[in-house]
Amino acid sequence: MILGIESSCDECSASVLQSSPTRALEVKSVATFSQIQIHQPFGGVVPEIASRNHLETINPMIHQALSKAGISYSDLDAIAVTTCPGLVGALLVGVSAAKAIAYAKQIPLVPVHHLEGHVSSLFLDADPKTLDTLQLPCLVAVISGGHTHLYVMNQWPEEWPLEFLSSQLVARSRDDAAGEAFDKTAKLLGFPYPGGKWLDDHAKGGDPSRFALPRALPQKSVLDFSFSGLKTAASLLIQDLTKKNQLEEEIPHLCASIQEAIVDSLVKKMFLAIEKYNCQSLAIVGGVAANSRLRERLENESPVPTLFPHLKYCTDNAAMIGAAGYFRFKQGRALSTEDLLTLNASPSARHAPGRALS
Ligand code: KG4
Ligand code: ZN
Repeated sequence: MILGIESSCDECSASVLQSSPTRALEVKSVATFSQIQIHQPFGGVVPEIASRNHLETINPMIHQALSKAGISYSDLDAIAVTTCPGLVGALLVGVSAAKAIAYAKQIPLVPVHHLEGHVSSLFLDADPKTLDTLQLPCLVAVISGGHTHLYVMNQWPEEWPLEFLSSQLVARSRDDAAGEAFDKTAKLLGFPYPGGKWLDDHAKGGDPSRFALPRALPQKSVLDFSFSGLKTAASLLIQDLTKKNQLEEEIPHLCASIQEAIVDSLVKKMFLAIEKYNCQSLAIVGGVAANSRLRERLENESPVPTLFPHLKYCTDNAAMIGAAGYFRFKQGRALSTEDLLTLNASPSARHAPGRALS
């Protein structure tokens, strides 16, 4: 039985998981306070406001997760907490809470890299039959508001070396993340933050080929992504349509065209990576895994079986942190008392204590 804690950005979340005889983990409870509404007036996450809200909600979320699962601290075998990467003030709230509980109740504590959490979301409440289609090597795409990373997973999580993320990274965005591209272009169209879901919804019924938008780095030899040019092109197009008083009528087509440009780049590079690394399956995790057009295109075009976590585990949540922590716990990676007392949060991808993971 493991308690996961996540506070790296704008979701304050706690979750209780139980291991099973298979690799799948049973989620007993999740309690999440989303700060989206609080940050919406600012058009993005305000770090100081995020930390202050985490401070107010962390204890209630932990208590709720334990009570929903019907357990108390004494039933826990371990606590897992996100230590990096993220907003450092926000991370510190979760890390401090986890340290205090672990020390006071003498429960082993496992530091978790947020991106290992996203990858581990594949195993949450997973149907064993679905997991059977996850053959190694598997290309895992972490596509979120902060990252667009492709990893070749050729070992199961309980066998991952500490430097799994840095050693298996085969492609990344050179500038904006895919989720950021959704959010920034959605903002230009006047949608609230985070705009990915709004753009997805408003693209329904739109013509994805109405506007020609750039697909950067088209060379087959390049697996990396780039999305900042798309934002500039979309901005110029929106200005032009506004001048002609045509913006309103073109919204569905504009949304569909922007979405298609992002999804098209993602799909093309993922297929190139699958071929290059001879991957037997594809897994998509992170907030953008919720995108309906990405799911539709992969369903129709993917050359290998494709897996997604349950929709509710795509965006940030503590269950995925608990899962990653469980796999590391099984490797004996819980901290010693001395390391527990000096554990710190890191805004960059540095894995505490003192281990670099990109
Ligand atoms: O994984 P996540 O919750 O947070 C990070 O770790 O960044 O991902 C949030 C991102 C946001 O950029 C959001 O706009 C995007 O996921 N997102 C979507 C959709 N739902 C969430 N993007 C496109 N289509 C969606 N349906
Ligand atoms: Zn995330």
